[in-house]
Amino acid sequence: MDTRNLIATAQAMMADGKGLLAMDESTGTCNKRFAGAGISQTEEARRGYRELLVTTPGMGECISGAILYDETIRQKTRKGTPFVQVLTAAGIVPGIKVDMGAKALAGHPAERVTEGLDGLRERLKGYFDMGARFAKWRAVLAIGEGLPTPACIEVNAHALARYAALCQEATLVPIVEPEVLMDGDHTLERCRSVTEDVLHRVFDQLRLQGVMLEAMILKPNMVLPGLTCATQESVDVVAAATVKSLLRVVPAAVAGIAFLSGGQSGELASARLNAMHGRFGLPPVQAPWPLTFSFGRALQQPALEIWAGDEVNRVAAQQALLHRARCNAAALHGNYHAGMETA
Ligand code: 13P
Repeated sequence: MDTRNLIATAQAMMADGKGLLAMDESTGTCNKRFAGAGISQTEEARRGYRELLVTTPGMGECISGAILYDETIRQKTRKGTPFVQVLTAAGIVPGIKVDMGAKALAGHPAERVTEGLDGLRERLKGYFDMGARFAKWRAVLAIGEGLPTPACIEVNAHALARYAALCQEATLVPIVEPEVLMDGDHTLERCRSVTEDVLHRVFDQLRLQGVMLEAMILKPNMVLPGLTCATQESVDVVAAATVKSLLRVVPAAVAGIAFLSGGQSGELASARLNAMHGRFGLPPVQAPWPLTFSFGRALQQPALEIWAGDEVNRVAAQQALLHRARCNAAALHGNYHAGMETA
């Protein structure tokens, strides 16, 4: 384990005023989003869209790292420059999603376990050689009657910790992503309690597997009411609940926390992130770790819709992506406001 390099990468990923761009949708998920936007679901369309993302001028000002997918890390621009090289030149650290997806958990209907540990050591070495410096593994936990079960929490926490240990051995900073899903009518309080339970189990397992906290990044959900819950709390209530839970559960040694957006709108995700920094990011109330974003949909969705598969819309789509990135970067200093959306 190359401790010095791991910590330097983690710190670069958590650079002040910057966040991560999640552009690691699997082929299936990317195709689903393309279908929703009326875009043809071909390898060339996916390549062209990812080229648009990585070549957006100015992205390096507010994006510290980009999470790629196996197909994407091997792709090049139309002019033949590997995406990894484009990102690195822009000061953006390339990373890679390495899990093989969430699969049905035997004996536990409606629950899933993320797979991909078999052969992972060899795959990680391959990705490092391709230029990746960090990795991501996502576990999903649904809230429902009697869900998540302790069995589901345990297997996913165990897999996350084994993945993280293998990453550090390969000098890749692990992003550990246990996502408590927003689907359902549960309350914010229920999400808080499940999120804390899950994070406790994840950090127990990380400790058991000897993962170095200073060289990992946690990618959690925000603490939110379910999408169909009748009571949708204010931005400030969500921000306060989220930070309170994290302060209870996440060790201070962790290099940083980078939220997923999980289906929140771009504006709401920015507003909630902003409120966390308004309350907790400024002296004298300091959180022990930097809190940033690692959004997929909340950064990309407007750009995808504007692009719509037509190169004529490339520049406008890049501007939309840069706009969302700048809004989130502003939120990291408590400087995001609704006026930014109409300016
Ligand atoms: P969303 O922000 O769209 O939830 O995606 C983040 C991510 O990386 C999910 O694994």
